[in-house]
Amino acid sequence: MPSKKPKEPQTIHCEKKAIYPGSFDPLTNGHINIIKRGLMVFEEIVVAVARNTTKKNLFTPQEKVDMINDVFGKEPKVSAVTFEGLLVDYCRSENIKVILRGLRTVSDFEFEFQVAQANKQMAPEVDTLFMMTESAYSHISSTILKEIIQLGGSARGMVPATIERRMRKKLLGRAKR
Ligand code: COA
Repeated sequence: MPSKKPKEPQTIHCEKKAIYPGSFDPLTNGHINIIKRGLMVFEEIVVAVARNTTKKNLFTPQEKVDMINDVFGKEPKVSAVTFEGLLVDYCRSENIKVILRGLRTVSDFEFEFQVAQANKQMAPEVDTLFMMTESAYSHISSTILKEIIQLGGSARGMVPATIERRMRKKLLGRAKR
């Protein structure tokens, strides 16, 4: 049986606002790169910190928002919020129609594809837009950064200095190496 033809959009217009969700434990230079490049497409980006992540977090949701504001506080086009529950429910409550996600590797794609499809099924009016992470950041993850710092390494170039200091303080009990 032929699969049901997806409904084509009735009107074509540009979405001005996108949501960039994640666990951000913490925000890295890879995330920052996606947000800055996202601003070439959207007039406003809402960085949304998921409260109910299954990951073991180093930072509280409020600390994550504070770190995002430390980096983007002077940029009026970027705001930071937390959300609980399904992302698509939050999008609906805020009338946001585009989810922005970064793809680092092919292995990211499979999972991201599943999540995007599930979100689309739950909220057909919300689309996911993927941006390729620049190669300089494709090896970075928040977990890897935490391990580097925990083991006495430097995360310079991978995370802003203010965030590296906060990580050092949490993980090692001191701000400087
Ligand atoms: N550069 C470098 N690293 C990046 C990156 C980039 N551009 N983008 C992501 N990463 C890293 C992150 O640091 C993170 O590393 P970690 O796994 O070591 O913590 C990893 O890639 C993935 O992180 P992130 O992009 O934050 O995604 P996530 O999988 O942690 O969060 C949510 C996914 C929160 C968006 C998703 O789970 C969600 O929407 N949850 C709400 C509940 C919901 O709606 N669920 C239904 C889904 S069907």
